Amino acid sequence: MRCIAETSPRPSEARPPDERPAVTLRGFRPSDIPFVTSIVAEALHEHYDPTLYLSLSADWPEGFLIAADSHDVPVAFLLGVSQVSHEARILMFAVDRHWRTLGIGRLLMSTFFERCRDRGYRRATLEVRVSNATAIRFYTRFDYSVVDLLRGYYSDGENGYQMARALN
Ligand SMILES: CC(C)(COP(=O)(O)OP(=O)(O)OC[C@H]1O[C@@H](n2cnc3c(N)ncnc32)[C@H](O)[C@@H]1OP(=O)(O)O)[C@@H](O)C(=O)NCCC(=O)NCCS
Repeated sequence: MRCIAETSPRPSEARPPDERPAVTLRGFRPSDIPFVTSIVAEALHEHYDPTLYLSLSADWPEGFLIAADSHDVPVAFLLGVSQVSHEARILMFAVDRHWRTLGIGRLLMSTFFERCRDRGYRRATLEVRVSNATAIRFYTRFDYSVVDLLRGYYSDGENGYQMARALN
């Protein structure tokens, strides 16, 4: 699984440029799938079978966080899973481009850490493209550091970094 649609309405484009973001964090719902796939296509340039989101959310529903706008439309999400004992792994994380640099990523990440601690996880990991300087900078601010180089990790052949941090 790589950090990753059909075209669906893009309600985020209706947001007036100077409006303060009023997002609510909540759990993932099946009705979110068209919006999540749209964000994934635009932000991560990946296309996954919609049923994947249902199956990935099944084991740890609290690890799949949605940030929704005032109309309850998803504008960002973080999908975490746990495949290794006492560890959480971020499989997908993206904010709609019209909603970036407004603190929504920070809100999602800090809430995700709370969910991890609720479960007693001791470590969080993720993968990121070596070219994704914005995301690497973001993760570094949250105390992730590079622990491995993943050669040819992405479907287009790009290398990835595995990053990790301890959870206290
Ligand atoms: C990475 C990403 C999730 C960050 O989300 P965001 O909502 O824009 O981030 P925030 O507004 O919460 O910013 C958090 C911090 O990162 C900094 N930051 C975020 N984007 C930045 C940018 N483009 N340039 C410089 N700093 C940036 C903010 O200044 C902020 O710092 P502060 O807390 O010290 O003020 C978002 O850029 C994104 O969705 N990118 C495309 C998808 C992607 O690459 N996902 C990761 C795949 S592994």
